[in-house]
This record gives sequence, C-alpha cells and structure tokens, in this order.
Amino acid sequence: MSVDVIPGLEGIAIAESGVSFVDGQAGRLEYRGIDVALLAEHSTFEETSYLLLYGKLPTSDQLAEFRASINAASPLKFRIVDLMKCLPETGHPMDALQATVAAIGMFYPNRHDLDEEARNIACRKLIAKTTSVVASFQRLRRGDEYIAPRKDLSLIGNFLYMINGEDPDPDHERILNVCLILHADHTMNASTFSGRVVASTGADPCTVVSSALGALSGPLHGGANEDVMALLDTIGSVENARPYVENMIAKKIKIPGFGHRVYKTMDPRATILKKYAESLIKHTDKPHFQIALEIEKVVAEHYAEKGIWPNVDFFSGIVYSELGIPRDCFTPVFGMSRVSGWLAHWLEQVQGNRIFRPTQKYVGGHQQPYIALDKR
Ligand code: ACO
Repeated sequence: MSVDVIPGLEGIAIAESGVSFVDGQAGRLEYRGIDVALLAEHSTFEETSYLLLYGKLPTSDQLAEFRASINAASPLKFRIVDLMKCLPETGHPMDALQATVAAIGMFYPNRHDLDEEARNIACRKLIAKTTSVVASFQRLRRGDEYIAPRKDLSLIGNFLYMINGEDPDPDHERILNVCLILHADHTMNASTFSGRVVASTGADPCTVVSSALGALSGPLHGGANEDVMALLDTIGSVENARPYVENMIAKKIKIPGFGHRVYKTMDPRATILKKYAESLIKHTDKPHFQIALEIEKVVAEHYAEKGIWPNVDFFSGIVYSELGIPRDCFTPVFGMSRVSGWLAHWLEQVQGNRIFRPTQKYVGGHQQPYIALDKR
C-alpha cells in the first residue's frame, strides 16, 4: 500500500480540541474562545488554568476553592526534596523538572484509571508541584535549603517566595502571571502532541506531563528563549546587530525566536511580551532590548514576506531576566505554565480515547540474508 509521508505532520489534524485556537494569519490566540490578550490584561494564571481545564471562567467560589486546593498541594514531600538534592547542581533545571515530575508519580500508586474527581485532584497537584519543583531546584542547586510555600500567597507569589525567601514584588508577580498566562496553551504543538500520544496509551498524568516536558526542552520548541538571550549577548551592541544577523541570513542560519509553523505574522504573545520587556528594561543600562529591536527590523526586511516574524520566545527571555529568573530556568518556567494546557488536553484525550498508532512508509530492504558473525 502506498502512503504519503507528511514531514512534521504539517496540516494533519490529530484530534478535535476545544482548548485553544490560533489564527496564524491574523495573529490571534484564544483559550476556550477568549482572546489571550484579554486574559493577559484581566486574569491570573490560576484563573486561566481553571478556564483551560474546565472550559469556562470560574465563579469566585470556584476560583477560591481551586486556589486553595493548589496551595494545599504546593508543599513538596521531603523525599522529593531529597531526590532533587541528589541531582547534579550543574544539570539543566529542565532535566531536573522532567525527572522529578516523573518521580512524583511514584508517590501516587493509584494514579491509573482515575475517575473524574481523581483527575481533578491530579490536575491541581501537578500544577502546584511543577511550580514548587522549579523554584526549589533553583534554591537547592545553589546550596540553599528548601522553603515551604506560604498559605497567604498565590501560586506565582509562592514561586517567587520559594526562590528568594522574600515577599514577592507585586509588580513582578503580576508580570510573571502574564507570562504564564501567555504560555499556558498553544494548540497542537510538539509537546502537547507528545503528551496526548502518551495519554492515549492510558499512562498516568505525571507520565503525560513528564513526556511533554521532554518534548518542550528542545531548542526548536521551548528551549529557543535561552538561545535568544545568548544571541543578544553575543551581538553585544546595537551596531553589531545588523552585520551579525545579515551574516546569519546569508549563511541560512535560523535566527532563534523567529518563525512559527502556524503564525505567518507577529505572534500575539510576542506583541504583549515586547511591551513588558521594554517597560522592565528601560530602568537599566542593558542593551538587550535595543539589540532585539534592531534584529527584529533586519529580520523583517529580509523575511517578512516569507512570514517569518518574532515568536513568543523572542522577548520572553528579556522579561524573565529582568524578573531575576536565571537563563536556564526560562524553559522550566514555560513548562510550569504549559502544564495547565497539557492537562486540559489530557482530560480531552481520555474522553473517547483511541490509542495513537500512525503508520510509516517502509524504505528498508526485504528478504535479506542472515550473515554469520564471523563472516561479516
Ligand atoms: N530564521 C531564519 N529562517 C527561518 C526561521 C528562522 N528562525 N524559521 C524558519 N525559517 C525558514 C526556514 O529556513 C525555511 O526556509 P526555506 O523554505 O527557504 O528552506 C522556512 O522558513 C520554513 O522553515 P521550517 O523550519 O521548515 O518551518 P517549521 O514550521 O518546520 O519550523 C520553527 C518552525 C521550528 C519554529 C522554526 O521557525 C525555527 O526553527 N525557529 C527558530 C527556533 C525557535 O524560535 N523556536 C521557538 C518556536 S515557538 C515555540 O515553540 C514555543
């Protein structure tokens, strides 16, 4: 039977989903039908997570209950903290996050065949614990002790508190909320697809999230924001930006933070993050934002017609850096946001599930002889 291979599955719908929607031509992103720009302006990450999971905005009672259950699930078991202490402090925090989330599953032996209530509990636990793991690994790897989350703080407030041990700056908490809202879901990207494939096997939600984290770690996906900051550092000054980027273009080297399979215009998340990057960096003497603007200009001159524009990763690194988040924690922070989207897709996938089992176009040989070892 002859089959066509579609590289990267471009244009292939692999599921029906009501979680999020992207219009790549208009540069529009919606969660459950609500424009992400509205959520960035008015919502919190917890409220947006509720929306993604349950399909509608919560009432104030529902939100209070959701927040309380997340807060209650935020502390980490001492054995999880011990496990993180054993991980190499020079290791990448994304690997630490993926490994720890997988290990957390071992503490919940009844995590398979979950009923609706157990699924809800699992979602809240995973949203809470991924955030605590990212914050705690950051402390532990620099030799500081684990700090337990506080009852009076939001999820993001606790994230900042658990890293620094100080009351969170309300402006930083608000901006980080916006960042996490913007990263919380994005239709059928590589990590979400990966999570849905694993979910389709009946695997438990910790395994689903841990596999999605692995997919997110790659430089073509969530890892690009680190590369953007490295590029801004390497370029070093606004004057160097044009020759450096033109040289990359001449050599057909991909510019990190640009291009997208779906967006053929500016990514709406990049538009919002650009404003925050500008407002945060203007109080400093760092050249990063001005260099980024120059890169954006040069890339637009060469590639706008080809539909290559800044994506979410282009300005997020500047924002995270100004919030004091270390560069190698950018992708873990992205991951602790996207966990809400992955879990919303998990809940969808387990309804009327059929295991993913695509096909292939075989290009190998047939009827090959077996040559004895001493004859090869
Ligand atoms: N710089 C220069 N050229 C680019 C870029 C870029 N960043 N991105 C795409 N192109 C060009 C390709 O060279 C290719 O050109 P060609 O047709 O002349 O060969 C064309 O645009 C299509 O590119 P593909 O890589 O085939 O597009 P695809 O949809 O497979 O990949 C991706 C999308 C992976 C995001 C790509 O644009 C890329 O590698 N960007 C840089 C890494 C990055 O920023 N990743 C973060 C994406 S957002 C996210 O995952 C959260």
